[in-house]
Amino acid sequence: PTTSTFKIAAVPADGVGTEVVAAGRAVLDALAAGSGGAFAFDWTEFPWGCGYYERTGRMMDEDGLERLREFDAIYFGAVGWPSVPDHTSLWGLRLKICQNFDQWANIRPVHFHPGITSPLRKADHIPLDWVVVRENSEGEYAGLGGRNLSGRGPGNEVALQTALFTERGCERIIRFAFDLARTRTRKKVSSVTKSNAQQYGMVLWDETFARVAADYPDVETESVLVDAMSAKFVLKPEDLSVVVASNLNADILSDLGSALAGSLGLAASANLNPERRFPSMFEPVHGSAPDIAGQGLANPIGAIGSAALMLDHFGLVDEAARVHKAIEATTAAGVLTPDVGGTATTDEVVASIIDHL
Ligand code: NAI
Ligand code: MG
Repeated sequence: PTTSTFKIAAVPADGVGTEVVAAGRAVLDALAAGSGGAFAFDWTEFPWGCGYYERTGRMMDEDGLERLREFDAIYFGAVGWPSVPDHTSLWGLRLKICQNFDQWANIRPVHFHPGITSPLRKADHIPLDWVVVRENSEGEYAGLGGRNLSGRGPGNEVALQTALFTERGCERIIRFAFDLARTRTRKKVSSVTKSNAQQYGMVLWDETFARVAADYPDVETESVLVDAMSAKFVLKPEDLSVVVASNLNADILSDLGSALAGSLGLAASANLNPERRFPSMFEPVHGSAPDIAGQGLANPIGAIGSAALMLDHFGLVDEAARVHKAIEATTAAGVLTPDVGGTATTDEVVASIIDHL
Protein backbone atom coordinates (compact mmCIF):
# COMPACT_ATOMS: atom_id res chain seq x y z
CA PRO A 1 0.00 0.00 0.00
CA THR A 2 1.05 3.55 -0.69
CA THR A 3 2.17 5.27 2.48
CA SER A 4 2.42 8.81 1.16
CA THR A 5 0.78 10.53 -1.75
CA PHE A 6 1.95 14.02 -2.62
CA LYS A 7 -0.59 16.24 -4.33
CA ILE A 8 1.15 18.43 -6.90
CA ALA A 9 -0.32 21.23 -9.00
CA ALA A 10 1.42 21.35 -12.38
CA VAL A 11 1.40 24.75 -14.08
CA PRO A 12 3.41 24.32 -17.30
CA ALA A 13 2.24 27.69 -18.72
CA ASP A 14 4.07 28.79 -21.89
CA GLY A 15 6.63 27.80 -24.51
CA VAL A 16 9.23 25.30 -23.32
CA GLY A 17 7.51 25.39 -19.92
CA THR A 18 5.11 22.72 -21.21
CA GLU A 19 7.98 20.56 -22.51
CA VAL A 20 10.13 20.68 -19.39
CA VAL A 21 7.23 20.17 -16.97
CA ALA A 22 6.26 17.03 -18.90
CA ALA A 23 9.90 15.93 -18.60
CA GLY A 24 10.00 16.46 -14.84
CA ARG A 25 6.70 14.67 -14.36
CA ALA A 26 7.97 11.67 -16.31
CA VAL A 27 11.04 11.44 -14.07
CA LEU A 28 9.04 11.74 -10.85
CA ASP A 29 6.47 9.20 -12.05
CA ALA A 30 9.26 6.75 -12.90
CA LEU A 31 10.69 7.26 -9.43
CA ALA A 32 7.31 6.63 -7.80
CA ALA A 33 6.71 3.56 -9.97
CA GLY A 34 9.99 2.13 -8.72
CA SER A 35 9.31 2.92 -5.06
CA GLY A 36 7.35 -0.26 -4.43
CA GLY A 37 4.36 1.80 -3.38
CA ALA A 38 6.27 3.77 -0.75
CA PHE A 39 5.15 7.05 -2.28
CA ALA A 40 3.12 8.39 -5.18
CA PHE A 41 2.44 11.68 -6.90
CA ASP A 42 -1.08 12.86 -7.60
CA TRP A 43 -0.91 15.48 -10.37
CA THR A 44 -3.46 18.12 -11.30
CA GLU A 45 -2.58 20.22 -14.33
CA PHE A 46 -3.78 23.81 -14.73
CA PRO A 47 -4.01 25.36 -18.22
CA TRP A 48 -2.99 28.88 -17.18
CA GLY A 49 -0.61 31.11 -19.09
CA CYS A 50 -0.59 33.36 -22.14
CA GLY A 51 -2.87 31.13 -24.25
CA TYR A 52 -5.38 31.15 -21.41
CA TYR A 53 -5.05 34.95 -21.28
CA GLU A 54 -5.84 35.27 -24.97
CA ARG A 55 -9.03 33.24 -24.45
CA THR A 56 -10.21 34.68 -21.13
CA GLY A 57 -8.40 37.97 -20.47
CA ARG A 58 -6.89 36.45 -17.30
CA MET A 59 -3.59 34.71 -16.67
CA MET A 60 -5.21 32.32 -14.16
CA ASP A 61 -8.71 31.53 -12.87
CA GLU A 62 -10.19 34.05 -10.47
CA ASP A 63 -10.21 31.42 -7.71
CA GLY A 64 -6.83 30.05 -8.86
CA LEU A 65 -4.95 30.85 -5.68
CA GLU A 66 -7.62 29.21 -3.51
CA ARG A 67 -7.40 26.08 -5.63
CA LEU A 68 -3.62 25.99 -5.52
CA ARG A 69 -3.62 26.34 -1.74
CA GLU A 70 -4.76 22.74 -1.24
CA PHE A 71 -1.69 21.25 -2.91
CA ASP A 72 1.49 20.01 -1.27
CA ALA A 73 3.53 21.84 -3.90
CA ILE A 74 3.35 23.63 -7.23
CA TYR A 75 5.49 22.49 -10.16
CA PHE A 76 5.85 25.41 -12.55
CA GLY A 77 7.21 25.70 -16.10
CA ALA A 78 7.72 29.22 -17.43
CA VAL A 79 5.40 32.09 -18.21
CA GLY A 80 5.58 34.58 -21.06
CA TRP A 81 4.84 34.74 -24.77
CA PRO A 82 5.30 37.53 -27.33
CA SER A 83 1.50 37.95 -27.64
CA VAL A 84 1.16 39.28 -24.07
CA PRO A 85 3.23 42.06 -22.45
CA ASP A 86 5.79 40.42 -20.16
CA HIS A 87 4.82 42.48 -17.12
CA THR A 88 1.19 41.38 -17.54
CA SER A 89 2.05 37.67 -17.83
CA LEU A 90 4.66 37.64 -15.06
CA TRP A 91 2.62 39.59 -12.51
CA GLY A 92 -0.59 37.77 -13.46
CA LEU A 93 0.74 34.30 -12.71
CA ARG A 94 4.21 33.63 -11.34
CA LEU A 95 4.69 36.70 -9.18
CA LYS A 96 1.08 36.46 -8.06
CA ILE A 97 1.68 32.96 -6.72
CA CYS A 98 5.06 33.83 -5.14
CA GLN A 99 3.72 36.91 -3.38
CA ASN A 100 0.36 35.58 -2.22
CA PHE A 101 1.88 32.36 -0.91
CA ASP A 102 4.68 34.29 0.81
CA GLN A 103 7.35 32.22 -0.93
CA TRP A 104 9.98 34.53 0.41
CA ALA A 105 13.04 32.34 -0.09
CA ASN A 106 14.09 31.55 -3.65
CA ILE A 107 16.88 28.97 -3.72
CA ARG A 108 18.94 28.76 -6.91
CA PRO A 109 21.85 26.32 -6.83
CA VAL A 110 24.66 26.88 -9.33
CA HIS A 111 25.74 23.37 -10.13
CA PHE A 112 28.42 22.21 -12.56
CA HIS A 113 27.72 18.90 -14.33
CA PRO A 114 30.27 16.37 -15.59
CA GLY A 115 30.45 16.32 -19.38
CA ILE A 116 29.17 19.87 -19.80
CA THR A 117 31.74 22.46 -20.81
CA SER A 118 31.71 25.61 -18.73
CA PRO A 119 32.87 28.88 -20.30
CA LEU A 120 35.03 29.12 -17.16
CA ARG A 121 38.34 27.34 -17.76
CA LYS A 122 38.72 27.06 -14.00
CA ALA A 123 35.74 24.73 -13.85
CA ASP A 124 37.84 22.07 -15.62
CA HIS A 125 40.01 21.48 -12.57
CA ILE A 126 38.43 23.21 -9.56
CA PRO A 127 35.21 21.87 -8.06
CA LEU A 128 32.67 24.70 -8.17
CA ASP A 129 29.30 24.68 -6.46
CA TRP A 130 27.38 27.52 -4.86
CA VAL A 131 23.81 28.57 -4.10
CA VAL A 132 22.14 31.90 -4.74
CA VAL A 133 19.53 32.70 -2.08
CA ARG A 134 17.16 35.31 -3.42
CA GLU A 135 14.84 37.47 -1.35
CA ASN A 136 11.57 36.74 -3.10
CA SER A 137 8.87 38.85 -1.48
CA GLU A 138 9.91 42.50 -1.56
CA GLY A 139 12.94 44.54 -2.68
CA GLU A 140 12.93 45.80 -6.24
CA TYR A 141 10.01 43.52 -7.22
CA ALA A 142 7.62 44.84 -4.58
CA GLY A 143 5.44 46.26 -7.37
CA LEU A 144 5.32 49.70 -5.77
CA GLY A 145 5.24 52.80 -7.90
CA GLY A 146 3.27 54.32 -10.70
CA ARG A 147 3.27 55.95 -14.11
CA ASN A 148 2.15 59.30 -15.43
CA LEU A 149 2.89 60.90 -12.11
CA SER A 150 3.68 64.26 -13.61
CA GLY A 151 0.31 64.45 -15.35
CA ARG A 152 2.20 66.09 -18.21
CA GLY A 153 1.49 63.44 -20.82
CA PRO A 154 3.57 61.71 -23.47
CA GLY A 155 7.12 62.90 -23.84
CA ASN A 156 7.17 64.14 -20.25
CA GLU A 157 6.12 61.05 -18.40
CA VAL A 158 7.53 60.27 -14.99
CA ALA A 159 7.55 56.76 -13.52
CA LEU A 160 8.52 55.61 -10.04
CA GLN A 161 9.61 52.04 -9.31
CA THR A 162 10.11 51.84 -5.59
CA ALA A 163 12.08 49.14 -3.83
CA LEU A 164 10.75 48.02 -0.47
CA PHE A 165 13.10 46.78 2.24
CA THR A 166 11.75 45.80 5.64
CA GLU A 167 13.96 44.81 8.53
CA ARG A 168 11.90 41.63 9.00
CA GLY A 169 12.11 40.78 5.30
CA CYS A 170 15.88 41.26 5.30
CA GLU A 171 16.35 39.36 8.53
CA ARG A 172 14.39 36.26 7.56
CA ILE A 173 16.19 35.75 4.24
CA ILE A 174 19.60 36.44 5.79
CA ARG A 175 18.94 33.95 8.62
CA PHE A 176 17.80 31.44 6.01
CA ALA A 177 21.12 31.90 4.20
CA PHE A 178 23.12 31.35 7.39
CA ASP A 179 21.13 28.24 8.29
CA LEU A 180 21.73 26.90 4.79
CA ALA A 181 25.46 27.68 5.02
CA ARG A 182 25.67 25.57 8.19
CA THR A 183 24.51 22.52 6.21
CA ARG A 184 27.27 22.94 3.61
CA THR A 185 30.92 21.88 3.51
CA ARG A 186 32.06 25.48 3.13
CA LYS A 187 30.34 27.48 5.87
CA LYS A 188 30.29 30.92 4.32
CA VAL A 189 27.67 33.55 3.43
CA SER A 190 28.35 36.34 0.93
CA SER A 191 25.88 39.21 1.19
CA VAL A 192 25.33 41.29 -1.94
CA THR A 193 23.95 44.83 -2.07
CA LYS A 194 24.61 48.16 -3.75
CA SER A 195 24.59 50.18 -0.56
CA ASN A 196 27.07 52.76 -1.76
CA ALA A 197 24.53 54.05 -4.27
CA GLN A 198 21.24 52.94 -2.68
CA GLN A 199 21.62 54.40 0.76
CA TYR A 200 18.32 53.49 2.44
CA GLY A 201 17.10 49.97 1.75
CA MET A 202 20.48 48.45 1.02
CA VAL A 203 22.09 50.00 4.09
CA LEU A 204 19.27 48.53 6.18
CA TRP A 205 20.12 45.17 4.55
CA ASP A 206 23.86 45.56 5.31
CA GLU A 207 23.19 46.47 8.95
CA THR A 208 20.79 43.54 9.34
CA PHE A 209 23.39 41.23 7.83
CA ALA A 210 26.03 42.38 10.32
CA ARG A 211 23.60 41.94 13.24
CA VAL A 212 22.47 38.44 12.19
CA ALA A 213 26.06 37.36 11.44
CA ALA A 214 26.91 37.81 15.11
CA ASP A 215 24.56 34.89 15.88
CA TYR A 216 26.57 32.61 13.57
CA PRO A 217 30.20 32.90 14.70
CA ASP A 218 30.96 29.55 13.02
CA VAL A 219 30.02 30.92 9.58
CA GLU A 220 32.44 33.01 7.54
CA THR A 221 30.98 36.19 6.00
CA GLU A 222 31.64 38.86 3.43
CA SER A 223 29.67 41.85 2.11
CA VAL A 224 30.24 42.56 -1.57
CA LEU A 225 28.71 45.15 -3.91
CA VAL A 226 26.72 43.61 -6.75
CA ASP A 227 28.97 44.87 -9.54
CA ALA A 228 32.01 43.42 -7.79
CA MET A 229 30.12 40.18 -7.13
CA SER A 230 29.33 39.77 -10.82
CA ALA A 231 33.07 39.96 -11.49
CA LYS A 232 33.76 37.54 -8.65
CA PHE A 233 31.34 34.97 -10.13
CA VAL A 234 33.68 34.84 -13.12
CA LEU A 235 37.09 35.38 -11.54
CA LYS A 236 36.92 33.76 -8.10
CA PRO A 237 33.87 31.47 -7.93
CA GLU A 238 35.75 28.93 -5.82
CA ASP A 239 35.40 31.43 -2.96
CA LEU A 240 31.58 31.20 -2.95
CA SER A 241 29.22 28.96 -1.00
CA VAL A 242 25.95 30.75 -0.17
CA VAL A 243 25.27 34.10 -1.86
CA VAL A 244 22.32 36.04 -0.46
CA ALA A 245 20.92 39.02 -2.33
CA SER A 246 17.81 41.09 -2.97
CA ASN A 247 15.17 40.12 -5.50
CA LEU A 248 16.62 41.88 -8.58
CA ASN A 249 20.30 41.40 -7.81
CA ALA A 250 19.88 37.69 -7.12
CA ASP A 251 17.76 37.27 -10.25
CA ILE A 252 20.59 38.65 -12.38
CA LEU A 253 23.36 36.81 -10.53
CA SER A 254 21.59 33.46 -10.78
CA ASP A 255 21.30 33.75 -14.57
CA LEU A 256 25.01 34.54 -14.66
CA GLY A 257 25.69 31.51 -12.48
CA SER A 258 23.70 29.19 -14.71
CA ALA A 259 25.42 30.54 -17.82
CA LEU A 260 28.79 29.85 -16.18
CA ALA A 261 27.67 26.29 -15.50
CA GLY A 262 26.99 26.00 -19.24
CA SER A 263 23.36 26.97 -19.94
CA LEU A 264 20.31 28.67 -18.54
CA GLY A 265 18.54 25.39 -19.24
CA LEU A 266 20.45 23.69 -16.40
CA ALA A 267 19.42 25.90 -13.51
CA ALA A 268 16.91 24.70 -10.92
CA SER A 269 15.04 26.72 -8.33
CA ALA A 270 12.70 26.49 -5.37
CA ASN A 271 10.36 29.28 -4.22
CA LEU A 272 9.89 28.35 -0.59
CA ASN A 273 7.41 29.36 2.06
CA PRO A 274 9.65 28.03 4.84
CA GLU A 275 6.87 28.17 7.46
CA ARG A 276 4.83 25.82 5.23
CA ARG A 277 1.66 27.87 5.66
CA PHE A 278 1.33 27.84 1.87
CA PRO A 279 2.52 25.49 -0.88
CA SER A 280 6.02 26.13 -2.18
CA MET A 281 6.74 26.32 -5.91
CA PHE A 282 9.48 24.58 -7.89
CA GLU A 283 10.52 25.78 -11.35
CA PRO A 284 13.50 26.03 -13.67
CA VAL A 285 15.19 29.43 -13.65
CA HIS A 286 14.78 29.92 -17.40
CA GLY A 287 11.83 31.48 -19.21
CA SER A 288 9.56 30.19 -21.98
CA ALA A 289 12.33 30.34 -24.65
CA PRO A 290 10.07 31.19 -27.62
CA ASP A 291 13.09 30.83 -29.94
CA ILE A 292 13.29 27.06 -29.37
CA ALA A 293 9.77 26.21 -28.12
CA GLY A 294 7.88 23.31 -29.68
CA GLN A 295 10.94 21.75 -31.33
CA GLY A 296 11.95 19.19 -28.72
CA LEU A 297 15.19 21.09 -28.09
CA ALA A 298 14.60 22.34 -24.54
CA ASN A 299 17.10 21.21 -21.96
CA PRO A 300 14.98 19.50 -19.26
CA ILE A 301 17.72 19.43 -16.60
CA GLY A 302 16.74 22.71 -14.92
CA ALA A 303 13.16 21.47 -14.55
CA ILE A 304 14.22 17.98 -13.43
CA GLY A 305 16.65 19.50 -10.92
CA SER A 306 13.74 21.60 -9.65
CA ALA A 307 11.71 18.42 -9.24
CA ALA A 308 14.59 17.07 -7.12
CA LEU A 309 14.37 20.19 -4.93
CA MET A 310 10.67 19.40 -4.55
CA LEU A 311 11.56 15.86 -3.42
CA ASP A 312 13.86 17.38 -0.78
CA HIS A 313 10.98 19.57 0.35
CA PHE A 314 8.78 16.45 0.72
CA GLY A 315 11.49 14.83 2.85
CA LEU A 316 12.39 12.36 0.08
CA VAL A 317 16.06 13.22 0.44
CA ASP A 318 17.52 9.93 -0.84
CA GLU A 319 15.25 10.06 -3.89
CA ALA A 320 16.38 13.62 -4.61
CA ALA A 321 20.00 12.42 -4.48
CA ARG A 322 19.14 9.59 -6.89
CA VAL A 323 17.70 12.09 -9.37
CA HIS A 324 20.86 14.21 -9.14
CA LYS A 325 23.03 11.14 -9.74
CA ALA A 326 20.92 10.14 -12.75
CA ILE A 327 21.30 13.65 -14.19
CA GLU A 328 25.07 13.49 -13.69
CA ALA A 329 25.32 10.05 -15.27
CA THR A 330 23.40 11.37 -18.27
CA THR A 331 25.55 14.46 -18.80
CA ALA A 332 28.74 12.45 -18.20
CA ALA A 333 27.62 10.02 -20.93
CA GLY A 334 27.30 12.96 -23.34
CA VAL A 335 23.52 12.77 -23.73
CA LEU A 336 23.10 16.54 -24.12
CA THR A 337 20.68 18.97 -25.73
CA PRO A 338 22.03 21.52 -28.26
CA ASP A 339 22.32 24.39 -25.74
CA VAL A 340 25.13 22.44 -24.04
CA GLY A 341 26.74 21.27 -27.24
CA GLY A 342 24.91 18.00 -27.87
CA THR A 343 22.44 16.68 -30.40
CA ALA A 344 19.98 14.89 -28.10
CA THR A 345 16.31 15.84 -27.91
CA THR A 346 14.47 16.66 -24.70
CA ASP A 347 12.89 13.19 -24.76
CA GLU A 348 16.24 11.44 -25.21
CA VAL A 349 17.68 13.22 -22.18
CA VAL A 350 14.61 12.30 -20.13
CA ALA A 351 14.81 8.66 -21.24
CA SER A 352 18.48 8.53 -20.27
CA ILE A 353 17.82 10.05 -16.85
CA ILE A 354 15.01 7.54 -16.23
CA ASP A 355 17.31 4.69 -17.33
CA HIS A 356 19.97 5.81 -14.86
CA LEU A 357 17.44 5.98 -12.01
P1 NAI B 1 14.55 32.62 -21.64
O1 NAI B 1 15.10 32.04 -20.38
O2 NAI B 1 13.23 32.13 -22.07
O3 NAI B 1 15.60 32.40 -22.83
C1 NAI B 1 16.93 32.94 -22.83
C2 NAI B 1 17.83 32.07 -23.72
O4 NAI B 1 18.08 30.82 -23.05
C3 NAI B 1 17.20 31.72 -25.05
O5 NAI B 1 18.19 31.72 -26.05
C4 NAI B 1 16.66 30.32 -24.86
O6 NAI B 1 16.60 29.55 -26.03
C5 NAI B 1 17.65 29.74 -23.85
N1 NAI B 1 16.98 28.74 -23.00
C6 NAI B 1 16.10 29.00 -22.00
N2 NAI B 1 15.66 27.86 -21.46
C7 NAI B 1 16.25 26.87 -22.12
C8 NAI B 1 16.19 25.45 -22.03
N3 NAI B 1 15.41 24.81 -21.13
N4 NAI B 1 16.95 24.72 -22.88
C9 NAI B 1 17.75 25.31 -23.79
N5 NAI B 1 17.84 26.65 -23.91
C10 NAI B 1 17.10 27.41 -23.11
O7 NAI B 1 14.53 34.21 -21.43
P2 NAI B 1 13.90 35.36 -22.37
O8 NAI B 1 14.11 35.01 -23.80
O9 NAI B 1 14.44 36.61 -21.83
O10 NAI B 1 12.36 35.36 -22.05
C11 NAI B 1 11.37 34.67 -22.82
C12 NAI B 1 10.06 34.78 -22.09
O11 NAI B 1 10.13 34.10 -20.83
C13 NAI B 1 9.63 36.22 -21.76
O12 NAI B 1 8.25 36.30 -21.96
C14 NAI B 1 9.97 36.38 -20.29
O13 NAI B 1 9.17 37.31 -19.63
C15 NAI B 1 9.70 34.98 -19.78
N6 NAI B 1 10.44 34.61 -18.56
C16 NAI B 1 9.76 33.88 -17.63
C17 NAI B 1 10.38 33.43 -16.49
C18 NAI B 1 9.60 32.58 -15.55
O14 NAI B 1 8.49 32.19 -15.82
N7 NAI B 1 10.15 32.24 -14.41
C19 NAI B 1 11.80 33.71 -16.25
C20 NAI B 1 12.45 34.44 -17.32
C21 NAI B 1 11.78 34.89 -18.43
MG1 MG C 1 15.45 35.54 -14.09
